[in-house]
Amino acid sequence: MTGLSPAPSPAPHEAVAPRIGDMAPDFTARTTQGALTLSDLRGQWVLLFSHPADFTPVCTSEFIALAREADRFAALNCRLVGLSVDSLPSHLAWLEAIRVSFGVRVPFPVVEDPSMAIARAYGMLDVAADSSATVRGVYVIDPAGVIRAITWYPASVGRSVEELLRLLQALQQADRAGVLTPEGWQPGDDVVVPGELTEGAVTATGQAWFLQYARCTQS
Ligand code: BEZ
Repeated sequence: MTGLSPAPSPAPHEAVAPRIGDMAPDFTARTTQGALTLSDLRGQWVLLFSHPADFTPVCTSEFIALAREADRFAALNCRLVGLSVDSLPSHLAWLEAIRVSFGVRVPFPVVEDPSMAIARAYGMLDVAADSSATVRGVYVIDPAGVIRAITWYPASVGRSVEELLRLLQALQQADRAGVLTPEGWQPGDDVVVPGELTEGAVTATGQAWFLQYARCTQS
């Protein structure tokens, strides 16, 4: 006995939230830049990020930061796609207010999801908030349409755009060179390689056989 209770089964109307390694649920939706079908973005990385509500302070600060760094995501072959359950007119008014008030044009599409169909498919709804708000979810989707990383933050805490860039670069580095990236890894830093699991390798490598850093030649 472990003392753990089995996870409750989802109610019949609730989709099971996708996990790392699952195909990203596809959708077609209206956005601030016209209709978008997620699967049309295959061949590129996608950062699909949800936010609780338009015209809120933390979300606005995140949008300004993402807009300012959008070129860095583009240079990594990554498309930014925002989403909330707010309507398209609300998204448009908010982006215009950001442009006028802060001098920042948001260059990425923002998906409207008034029926919450997309939010449900991704399990983005903030059930703790007892409202239709989506959590601050980020889904990093690879060029084959597979979810490679998921982050979830509460409404009260803004995400770090630098960390999202770092996460994307680490995933790309791991794919390119078949390596692992240690804590705080930044492009150009040493990577880690799994030690060979044999007694001979352990004896040859010494006590730290389980943490071996290596220069990465495929950057
Ligand atoms: C915000 O982005 O500032 C926010 C969003 C939802 C609830 C509270 C704050």
